[in-house]
Amino acid sequence: MCGIVGVKGIKNPQDFLLEGLKELEYRGYDSAGIALIDEGELKVIKAVGKLKNLEEKVKNVTFSNPTLGIGHTRWATHGKPTELNAHPHIGEFSAVVHNGIIENYQEIKKELEKENISFVSQTDTEVIVKLFEHFYEGDAFEAFKKTFEKIDGAYAILLITEKEPEKIFFAKKGSPLIVAKNEGKFFFASSDAPLIGYANTAHYVEDGEFGYVDSFKPLPANKESAKKGGFRFYMEKEIYEQYDVLKENTLGRNTKDGIVFDELDKSFFEGINNIIISACGTSYHAGLVGKYLIERDAKIRVDVEVASELRYRKPLLSKDTLFIVISQSGETADTLETLKMAKKAGLKTLALCNMDNSSIVREADRTILLRAGIEKGVASTKAFATQVMTLWMLSNYLADKNEYEIINQAIEATKVNSKIHEKIKRLSKRYLHGHGFFFIGRDIFYPLALEGALKLKEISYIHAEGYPAGEMKHGPIALADPELFVVALLSKNILFEKTKSNIEELAARDATVLTVSSEEIELTDDYVKISLANHPMIEFFEMMVITQLLALEVAIRMGNDVDMPRNLAKSVTVE
Ligand code: M6R
Repeated sequence: MCGIVGVKGIKNPQDFLLEGLKELEYRGYDSAGIALIDEGELKVIKAVGKLKNLEEKVKNVTFSNPTLGIGHTRWATHGKPTELNAHPHIGEFSAVVHNGIIENYQEIKKELEKENISFVSQTDTEVIVKLFEHFYEGDAFEAFKKTFEKIDGAYAILLITEKEPEKIFFAKKGSPLIVAKNEGKFFFASSDAPLIGYANTAHYVEDGEFGYVDSFKPLPANKESAKKGGFRFYMEKEIYEQYDVLKENTLGRNTKDGIVFDELDKSFFEGINNIIISACGTSYHAGLVGKYLIERDAKIRVDVEVASELRYRKPLLSKDTLFIVISQSGETADTLETLKMAKKAGLKTLALCNMDNSSIVREADRTILLRAGIEKGVASTKAFATQVMTLWMLSNYLADKNEYEIINQAIEATKVNSKIHEKIKRLSKRYLHGHGFFFIGRDIFYPLALEGALKLKEISYIHAEGYPAGEMKHGPIALADPELFVVALLSKNILFEKTKSNIEELAARDATVLTVSSEEIELTDDYVKISLANHPMIEFFEMMVITQLLALEVAIRMGNDVDMPRNLAKSVTVE
């Protein structure tokens, strides 16, 4: 959720900290801060809001010879996004940054307050530094160890102290943390992006680890793909990248002879009669598409579950069930916990994940990597495309079905057509007011409607809902009037006439309807034409791009920060 960085052994460590936080800013951007040891003394600079505010403040600070430092970009969990609540949190001689949640912080706070130790913030994190200083009796590592034994919850922690000014202490449980090195220079980060170009080997810190590490793995060589490349926002770039990303995703997997997954063998599926898919947000929507495909083609029953619900409802988990988790980040706390729960119950587990070495990948029995590349926009686009494509290939694999050509045609359908983009740009101005949107569709176009609505609401802040087209008349149609906007996903290949009737029912009640289809429906107000295709998945991928562009253009017209929408974070590592 938040992002953390640390560095030791380079000149002007503040430059690496700010640059690293820039790479992580998409994870949280309520406030940011850095702490450095400069000539043995702690220097702490914090600012509310986006990182540029912190950069401005740092420009006005004079440094002598800082040797190490830590930094943090925050997505508020405990306490408002104020400067006092921003990290690093400080005591009398130490500073800490933390990603995660300290569950027993209230209890610890009360104990320390009884000892006349006072707190200035509303955060859970401040207890770490106060506890550390309380335990300190001349040996910082000993005090750190005691601190770490006392706290419960999920965390990645970096701590520095004037008492031992040459060290950065670290601990990890549940939240990601990487320590990397390059000839005596040490770097820390909560994901690998800030480390690329600085370090050549890295150690992915394991849960329960703290202190020093000695096993290092190579990092990717460049961060070119993480730049904006002329697009207005990363999200726009990522929408345009989907064609290439899907090529990469299917490379060596979608073959003329059928689907090949090097990661799997047929024996892995022996004894499997059911599948549970667990995920959150966009990944959950991809899972719903998978249900339609796998049940229809492979004839295996699939239940798709919202991970935050599944983990607490004591589900019946039988050993003939394959448990699939879907996650872009591989760090989503709820999804990860359901994976652990399934493993504990003895189920076989499979992860569809974009981040190699993530917690979910390390936990699952098998993983199919999504190969979407780094996704920086908080609103997921290309990761969703690869999730759906991977589920489609999995469905082919399980059903022994060969849709080689159709898969390739579906990939072609994700190439952004500049005329359509232009049209959506123009259309978007008509959809900035009103009292909300319904996205409607049937079959696989229903989860696409859910996803289209999620995309729109998360970046435009306009209320939007996805609904099965046939369900509108059971209540929501009561909202129909000219100020109700409906985006209708009308497939030529699945339930065309029935969906068309549902659209006409809405048009007859004067809702403003934008139809996305290869066939124009006369009665509707607006129309975005897709190519005529003979398979629903080809239509699906073309419509997916259109819903993403619509959300993007509406949000841009609203003047919003598309890549960093308010209140959200890219990786949700708290429950
Ligand atoms: O990293 P994950 O795929 O596990 O993340 C799940 C959701 O948090 C994520 O899809 C979220 O809904 C996105 N903001 C959607 O655009």
